[in-house]
Amino acid sequence: MSAIQAAAENYPTHDLQAHTNIPVETLRALYLPDRDLPNGTAQNASTDSTTVTFPTVRTEYPAVKKLNPLNKKRILVTGGAGFVGSHLVDRLMLMGHDVICIDNFFTGTKSNVSNWIGHPNFELIRHDVVDPIMVEVDQVYHLACPASPVHYQSNPVKTLKTGFFGTYNMLGLSKRVKARFLLASTSEIYGSPAEHPQQEEYWGHVNPIGPRACYDEGKRVAEALTYSYSRQDGVDVRVARIFNTFGPRMNWNDGRVVSNFILQALRGEEVTIYGDGEATRSFQYIHDLVDGLIALMESDCKEPVNLGNPDEFTINEFAETVSRIVREVGGKVKGEGEVRIKHLPPVEDDPQRRRPDIERAKEKIGWEPKVSVLDGLRETVLYFKRTLEE
Ligand SMILES: NC(=O)c1ccc[n+]([C@@H]2O[C@H](COP(=O)([O-])OP(=O)(O)OC[C@H]3O[C@@H](n4cnc5c(N)ncnc54)[C@H](O)[C@@H]3O)[C@@H](O)[C@H]2O)c1
Repeated sequence: MSAIQAAAENYPTHDLQAHTNIPVETLRALYLPDRDLPNGTAQNASTDSTTVTFPTVRTEYPAVKKLNPLNKKRILVTGGAGFVGSHLVDRLMLMGHDVICIDNFFTGTKSNVSNWIGHPNFELIRHDVVDPIMVEVDQVYHLACPASPVHYQSNPVKTLKTGFFGTYNMLGLSKRVKARFLLASTSEIYGSPAEHPQQEEYWGHVNPIGPRACYDEGKRVAEALTYSYSRQDGVDVRVARIFNTFGPRMNWNDGRVVSNFILQALRGEEVTIYGDGEATRSFQYIHDLVDGLIALMESDCKEPVNLGNPDEFTINEFAETVSRIVREVGGKVKGEGEVRIKHLPPVEDDPQRRRPDIERAKEKIGWEPKVSVLDGLRETVLYFKRTLEE
């Protein structure tokens, strides 16, 4: 039994149950629709080699909760068309809130939120957060920022502008309309950590001039701005330090470990590992992260909170597990059962170890991950397989 399989035994339920009382099947229908249902095709395009056809017929939107107007919030999600943002939008919509999604579609897509376009509770605005915008809302989830090295390093100056001006504009907006503000920060603010696991008190070990600095330092200045607005202007702030997250709708060509492995295994290619594969990572499933973001926003906790899954595995273990799951779901893996791994030179400044200490999240917001990496990987492989087929 692999370490990832063994760890899965510690999870109470072997399913993808989320905390916010939204049935998993309801969430699943939004990213992995049943092909036989009329609405199931709404987010999927059919395509041949030269053309692509998007269906226009949607008989009805997914059912959303009917909220008492006093409990119904107007919620802004910046970066809402991205991987994390679109799952957050799904959840907030299903919970019955009014949701405004702002995105410049740099890495996000309209198809990620296509389930909701035209819905009376939903608004999609193409906008770059580097420029100011004014909307009347009660809460701001500020996620807009490219998250993968391929994307954030493609224009590092823009990444820094997004980190600073984007956060500055959203904090200014929150101050003006008295909205509660949540920053999607990152474990990258710990850099290549000298402490393990990483607690929120740890100040980090970041290379300020390396290729990852535009993202890491962008997020660090975003945190500094957030707490400055809190101290100086009384803005009600929350900071989530998000650790590696995976799941359906993650960008599949951004070179991140999970998507890379799944795609390579599904395509029958060699699985490429940078370095010797003994570096460790911990990955949380997207439903757990969304639960954590909502729990943090609704809590009284103003301190930064780590949101991640503390189960830690080597990159080699991930490669083997992904290949095995791909075989289980009927995908291809080169070498008939044997994992073929190609080792490439290590990436500059790539941290060797990363694992969250989540004691604060448990204590202050009552959150901990519920989905094992194994269950999450199975769902993600299914999603990628379906998407590749389409
Ligand atoms: N996915 C992870 O593992 C992870 C880990 C740590 C932190 N985070 C943070 O969570 C947030 C979401 O990450 P993700 O994985 O969904 O990435 P993503 O790239 O899928 O989503 C980011 C979204 O922000 C949009 N965006 C980027 N720059 C923008 C700008 N200037 N104006 C408006 N929209 C802009 C993109 O188009 C995209 O829709 C990011 O802030 C990221 O730093 C993610």
